[in-house]
Amino acid sequence: MKVLIVGGGGREHAIACAVSKSPKVEKIYCAPGNAGIAEIAECVDIQVMDFEEIARFAKKIKADLVIVGPDDPLAAGIVDVLKGYGLKVFGPDGKAAILEGSKAFSKDLMKKYGIPTAAYEVFDDAEKATAYLEKAKYPIVLKADGLALGKGVLICNTKEEALDGVKEIMLDKKFGMAGNRMVIEEYMTGREVSVLTFCDGKTIKVMSSAQDHKRAGDGDTGLNTGGMGTFSPSPFYTAHIDEFCKKNIYKPTVEAMAKEGRPFKGVIFFGLMLTEDGPKVLEYNARFGDPEAQVVLPRMKNDIIDVMCACVDGTLGKIKLEFEDNAAVCVMLASSGYPGKYERGFVINGLESFKDKEDCFVFHSGTKKTGKGIVTNGGRVLGVTAKGDDLKKARSRAYEAVEWIDFENKYYRHDIGKAIDEA
Ligand code: AMP
Ligand code: GLY
Repeated sequence: MKVLIVGGGGREHAIACAVSKSPKVEKIYCAPGNAGIAEIAECVDIQVMDFEEIARFAKKIKADLVIVGPDDPLAAGIVDVLKGYGLKVFGPDGKAAILEGSKAFSKDLMKKYGIPTAAYEVFDDAEKATAYLEKAKYPIVLKADGLALGKGVLICNTKEEALDGVKEIMLDKKFGMAGNRMVIEEYMTGREVSVLTFCDGKTIKVMSSAQDHKRAGDGDTGLNTGGMGTFSPSPFYTAHIDEFCKKNIYKPTVEAMAKEGRPFKGVIFFGLMLTEDGPKVLEYNARFGDPEAQVVLPRMKNDIIDVMCACVDGTLGKIKLEFEDNAAVCVMLASSGYPGKYERGFVINGLESFKDKEDCFVFHSGTKKTGKGIVTNGGRVLGVTAKGDDLKKARSRAYEAVEWIDFENKYYRHDIGKAIDEA
């Protein structure tokens, strides 16, 4: 088979590594890819939002399967365009990707089908939102309706902060069009868990759980990022919680989407909060998480091509998902300054240390190959993942491997997986 992967981050590198293990695959292409992906795939300089060019390229190479990684092209309907060219595509179509693309849609869906989530109101108008905040309880959470690079969520401790937030989102349009509508919701407390699932429109299969670390600094301080590190599985996601979620969250979500005429085929990522009143949905994503994919996929035993084809073909019911009985930890190496301003173009040393290791992986997020060698080319640069018999062993191995890599302005959190000690 020939497989084309759309995207160029750590998630797509982790997907490409999984695809490369399939004996069915003879060649992998990636648009646009990055310096790490280029070691196992042929990268082509086509950007993820250039759907027509991606379709033409996929037809030219006679791709048997196209896998779409990131949220933006999914929400904008890349799957519909590629399918229009007669291509086989893994990922939700535009009608289904709205599950992530509109927070108002996903909240209304959960309310209609009784799926546990935070209480909320949707606003199209700043004045009404402001009036609502006068009588609200604090802290409170404001969310821009649309996609905002994972940054459209504001947690406001006081009324003043919330009023400023409404101004930023709805009037100053800090997140652009994503802020034309807004969700205001109840603030929840508890542990967060990321659960990735495969769906074929009617059946849903759950992968191993993970936990992300969204804030930039140690001790969960600083700005929200795309994710600074992950571990899998989450020791807090017990068999009992899994059973509850399958019955009350996962199955009802897939059935609700089908009933709404939006059957979901691809990955649904459930962002859950384990509250005192039970698990509740924080958010849905219509794709693999990044860096969740970097700890979940290396532990998956199945041939990913079999699973993805079953999702597209509607035969997921026949697949038994299996994961290794071990653990993985991923520490993101970033450029200091991220998620604010940072510099690019620093030479990365030490990547070769990973070549002969079976338990350590380095997934490229923001890198580029130049005449000087591989250089930093983004805020999040590399994801260093290690596997171990248990979470503690995986964590200490991951932090050992972090030391093998060296580049100017290297920054990372030192406390990825600290929660393991409380389990
Ligand atoms: P999201 O992009 O929806 O995942 O939100 C980003 C982060 O904001 C989440 O990972 C949570 O840490 C936090 N968050 C979102 N919604 C809530 C909520 N209702 N209560 C408390 N924290 C929240
Ligand atoms: N790591 C969170 C996300 O992918 O949205």
